Amino acid sequence: MKRILMCSPQFFRVDYVINPWMQVGSVDPLLAQKQWENLKALYEKLGVHVFVMEADEHYPDMVFSADQGIAQGKKMIMSSFCHDERKGESIVYEEWLADHGWQIDREITECFEGGEVLRYADQYFVGTGFRAQSNVVPILEKKLHKPVTELRIIDERFYHLDTCLFVLNDTTIFYFKDAFESESIRWLEQHIPTLIEFSREEAMNFAANSVVVGQSVICQEGSESFCDQLRELGYEPMEIDVGEFMKSGGGVHCLTLELG
Ligand code: ARG
Repeated sequence: MKRILMCSPQFFRVDYVINPWMQVGSVDPLLAQKQWENLKALYEKLGVHVFVMEADEHYPDMVFSADQGIAQGKKMIMSSFCHDERKGESIVYEEWLADHGWQIDREITECFEGGEVLRYADQYFVGTGFRAQSNVVPILEKKLHKPVTELRIIDERFYHLDTCLFVLNDTTIFYFKDAFESESIRWLEQHIPTLIEFSREEAMNFAANSVVVGQSVICQEGSESFCDQLRELGYEPMEIDVGEFMKSGGGVHCLTLELG
């Protein structure tokens, strides 16, 4: 991952509720700004090129850039937000992306959000049940020209796949088992060489919402055994606090749109 897009947290707040983490008025804006700056600085220290776009005051959740779409080469497959509160974010992002040379694909009209889609080796996973449904799987497969495996989520706290599954590399995945339907658990057990379970505490601490940069893993502070396991696997955990964003149901990964 060399280039990412982050969106300024200037207007980030919780003023509606669309997932169980959200409580209106819970965010400390100054602290959120500081946490976001720390994350940006850490990316830059690790050699990542961070693009920053301005926020729009009408969209308090637009700081979660990962939800906007999937980058493929110079094309951006735009999400189709499930809730009316977030739909307008796409327009602002589209403008920025188009201005920066991206080809915009907004053909998908079925509800699906970027946070549901994760790349694993030469394929993709899409989480379904909350912010995407099964009908989007064949559509994504056609667009991405890669196999797309559906993983069914059953716990509303983990409404996006990036809140309950973390791809470390082409052979290793961490996941919170209780968040998934049994058939999806079976699929992962059969296909993933090293499949490691998060504890409930780690899952609730957004451990799945981590980002790999080379041999470093940026993660929410406080998941000790996850960090130990990463070290054993030859990675360096970089703990950071993005707690203000967790109050909206988002973490490190949600604040990061990979541009390739
Ligand atoms: N409040 C936002 C929502 O519910 C949080 C999005 C977090 N994004 C993610 N990729 N998990 O839509």
